[in-house]
Amino acid sequence: MDKTLSIILRLCIVLILLTSTGCRTRIVDRQQVAKDERIVIRFSHVVAENTPKGLAAKKFAELVRERTNGYVEVQVFPESTLYKDGEELKALRNGEVQILAPATSKLSELSPEWQVLDLPYAFQNSSSFHAFIDGPAGLLLFEKLQSYGFLALAVWDNGFKQITNNKRPLIYPKDFRGLSFRVMPSSRLLIDQFNVFGGSAKPMPFSDVYRALKDGEVDGQENSISNIYTKEFSSLQRYLTLSNHGYLAYIVITNAQFWNSLPDWIKNVLQETMAEVELWEREKAKELNEEQLRIIRQQGRVEIHTLSEGERQIWESAFEPLYSKLEKEVNPELIKYLRQLKEKTD
Ligand code: LMR
Repeated sequence: MDKTLSIILRLCIVLILLTSTGCRTRIVDRQQVAKDERIVIRFSHVVAENTPKGLAAKKFAELVRERTNGYVEVQVFPESTLYKDGEELKALRNGEVQILAPATSKLSELSPEWQVLDLPYAFQNSSSFHAFIDGPAGLLLFEKLQSYGFLALAVWDNGFKQITNNKRPLIYPKDFRGLSFRVMPSSRLLIDQFNVFGGSAKPMPFSDVYRALKDGEVDGQENSISNIYTKEFSSLQRYLTLSNHGYLAYIVITNAQFWNSLPDWIKNVLQETMAEVELWEREKAKELNEEQLRIIRQQGRVEIHTLSEGERQIWESAFEPLYSKLEKEVNPELIKYLRQLKEKTD
């Protein structure tokens, strides 16, 4: 089945499950509208504009303006300028913003099941991540959002997380001993991930990471290349290990009450545009991370180590206890799906 169609169908299944409306043809050509008639959608996120999520939010806003003749205005607030980590989900619940695209780890604030996506080496590549999140496990997770009054509109990529620090090359688990790392808030698993190697982890908002690295509050951090590059962490850190140990992706979510208040024709335009941007964003994420890694290499400021297959296997077996620990804390079906997927892709 064509990828676009499968994504639109997934969105329809999720939206039919959670709302009374389904997919209908787009109503086109609305008249020019007065400023006060417009529908304003505030889209808040925490990253720089020149990132997969930043560019996709802008593209979504531009397409929606064009396709509704300005009747719907999507206002994008990047880089935590409106709300930062720890504030965003409450703002969405209170209707102060209408769209967010938090990293999946941060949804663990709502339900611990989202930590399944943080399991190190859970996904061999982006396709195996998509197979997981676009399948029955994803629907289980999206339905969890419903009890908080949220609707999942799309799944955007960033890419695999890498690890930077200022003390030493990180090649084996023992190299982490005594070092501290920033992790995203809300996911207990990300803390355990560094603990199991003898390091420590400090959850903090993304907007605080640059200062924390600069002041030495933490020795290192994990993130995608696009975040390491666009926030200039690579200018503060001496060592970068290309570990591909975790997958950074986003769930684009809206407030269900707001969504259900929209006329059907607007829901259809937003839904179809979101499906189109999702495909575009996934390609852009791959391209940007590759391009920005090339620039980091050319800048030559950071010593880069790419984990060998043998080193990765040592990391992967050292991480194994995280799977059995999480299996006791979340719906075992999710871990079962993950293990089945890993067997297929290993
Ligand atoms: C982080 O907090 O490290 C990431 O979630 C930032 C982002 O949204 O990519």
